[in-house]
Amino acid sequence: MSFRIQPAAPARPNRCQLFGPGSRPAIFEKMAASDADVINLDLEDSVAPSDKDSARANVIEAIGNVDWGKKTLSVRINGLDSPYWYRDIVDLLEQSSERLDQIMIPKVGSAADVYAVDALVTSIEAAKGRSKKIAFEVIIESAAGISHVEEIAASSPRLEAMSLGAADFAASMGMQTTGIGGTQANYYMHHEGANYWSDPWHWAQSAIVAACRTHGVLPVDGPFGDFSDDEGFRAQARRSATLGMVGKWAIHPKQIALSNEVFTPSEEAVSEAREILAAMEEAKAKGEGATVYKGRLVDIASIKQAEVIVRQSEMIAG
Ligand code: COA
Ligand code: MG
Repeated sequence: MSFRIQPAAPARPNRCQLFGPGSRPAIFEKMAASDADVINLDLEDSVAPSDKDSARANVIEAIGNVDWGKKTLSVRINGLDSPYWYRDIVDLLEQSSERLDQIMIPKVGSAADVYAVDALVTSIEAAKGRSKKIAFEVIIESAAGISHVEEIAASSPRLEAMSLGAADFAASMGMQTTGIGGTQANYYMHHEGANYWSDPWHWAQSAIVAACRTHGVLPVDGPFGDFSDDEGFRAQARRSATLGMVGKWAIHPKQIALSNEVFTPSEEAVSEAREILAAMEEAKAKGEGATVYKGRLVDIASIKQAEVIVRQSEMIAG
């Protein structure tokens, strides 16, 4: 470890973020009753321009009137390149109840974007005497966003989570695909007569995880568009979990259980992690830094790996 200790990310479950358009208030109660850890009421790209004002009003009313239980409640505002975002923030912060936990800023391209939102939010909180400080989450979904990912992760003490938004990201990068996440048919290696598919999202995900872990932010995988493809969703989510992401979006309610399943450490994984910790306790008692567990090396680094899994499991259970 460097002299600078890596900060811990917020200790709250973020296995699944369920999205719903702010223009569709009929589903708000269903969203609140779901098993998602985080709710994202959307004012941005799932809302048509003609519905922006009414969606904002629906969301402000629902923040106070719907019982959201213990969920993290977030509203996705419009992008800073739109004529809507300032009104989203002003109305949300002036009019919504203190039940609102978080604002999601889409299409962030630099730390200055977050700074601008922070300045506006801080001023309204002070003017209105709001006692709960609003947290931020951002979406990395542009070439600029991924190029400046580390400064964005460090941009504000309000920042708690960062997602990869595959669709806008692909468009901004000029990627030849209309798929939203998952396997892309044309991204393959060819060897001795057979094709082997690779993962075009991998590098961006890894860059996000590294930036987030450096600055104590939760890294999250964004949408998987084909909600008829459960196995495709599972595969994408398992890759994300393996890389260090803590959760994934659901753009349809049937993806919630899949996401919770993948991002909750399995009983097998937790008991193996506990066995590794016990094996290392024994080794320590004998004055050894390394030992053998099930025929493989475990050492002091294995303690930290095992603790990631045990801590995640205890945090979710608690
Ligand atoms: N949250 C909670 N419940 C939802 C829901 C959501 N996001 N989307 C649909 N439902 C409900 C429906 O109301 C329906 O309920 P019912 O069984 O009581 O009638 C049930 O789930 C099945 O819905 P279904 O008919 O399969 O879907 P749909 O055609 O109504 O909606 C989408 C499909 C994709 C348009 C819708 O899920 C949606 O808007 N998703 C979020 C889009 C979004 O926010 N995008 C921005 C982020 S990428
Ligand atoms: Mg987007």
